[in-house]
Amino acid sequence: MSKTKVTVPDIIQAKRDGRKLVMVTAYDYPFGLMADEAGVDMALVGDSLGMVVLGLDSTVPVTLEMMIHHIQAVVRGCTRAMVIGDMPFMSYNTGIRDAIVNAGRMMKAGGCDAVKLEGGVDFAPVVQAIVKAGIPVQGHVGLTPQTASALGGFKTQGKDAAAARKIIDDARALEAAGAFSIVAEAVPAPLGALLAEAVDVPIIGIGAGVDVDGQVLVTHDMVGLFDRFVPTFVKQYTTIRPTIIDAIKAYSEEVRSSAFPASEHSFGMSAEALAALKSDLKNE
Ligand code: KIV
Repeated sequence: MSKTKVTVPDIIQAKRDGRKLVMVTAYDYPFGLMADEAGVDMALVGDSLGMVVLGLDSTVPVTLEMMIHHIQAVVRGCTRAMVIGDMPFMSYNTGIRDAIVNAGRMMKAGGCDAVKLEGGVDFAPVVQAIVKAGIPVQGHVGLTPQTASALGGFKTQGKDAAAARKIIDDARALEAAGAFSIVAEAVPAPLGALLAEAVDVPIIGIGAGVDVDGQVLVTHDMVGLFDRFVPTFVKQYTTIRPTIIDAIKAYSEEVRSSAFPASEHSFGMSAEALAALKSDLKNE
């Protein structure tokens, strides 16, 4: 696999070549390194970090400063994968100028290669302005977690013809505004396929079926590290949480029984130095 950085033209070309794109979330340096070593195309520093890393109830309280802090760590781990920073709620919703300034901060201070933001037709002017300022934007349609309460909760979107048509219009508006790819979350698989046909930029599905141009999953869900809930569209490829808990339990037992640390985990001291120290202490 080439070690050169994945670029926006590479992502767009992948769809033309019929090559499926792989995106995962990463929130810190070790996961950035692992995603990069595994050869993913894109590492998304998702605002899902609020829930799976920071223990918040939703993505709404996530701030720009939190995002920048985590983006910086992932960027240090990714030499090849494109790093995309998720714009947090209210960092792009309050006007075009705010959106450009905040996207710019994520790129300049965070070091990401592109930003992602949620919303369709209504946010096309924002996407257009950020792209015009020189920052690549990934769109996000269907279930948009930042505004999930307005959508009636974490529910499948686009189930009837009118709602599905609106999501297609959203994707088309984002493409026309210059988005280089679009995440489609929690939509029926046939709608996922129609979305991929409706636009030339790649549709990256999460709960959007197989007939899209690529897939994204939240890594902590996929490896079984976060167990508060697992969405139906997640496949768990491993379950590392019990492995980690077992390791911590084994360590705890060994600490309590003095089996850890053994001599190989301890530092020695020369007999002369020890004798000198003991004599010194005795003569105090
Ligand atoms: O924040 C996130 O992780 C996301 C993905 C679910 C696409 O937006």
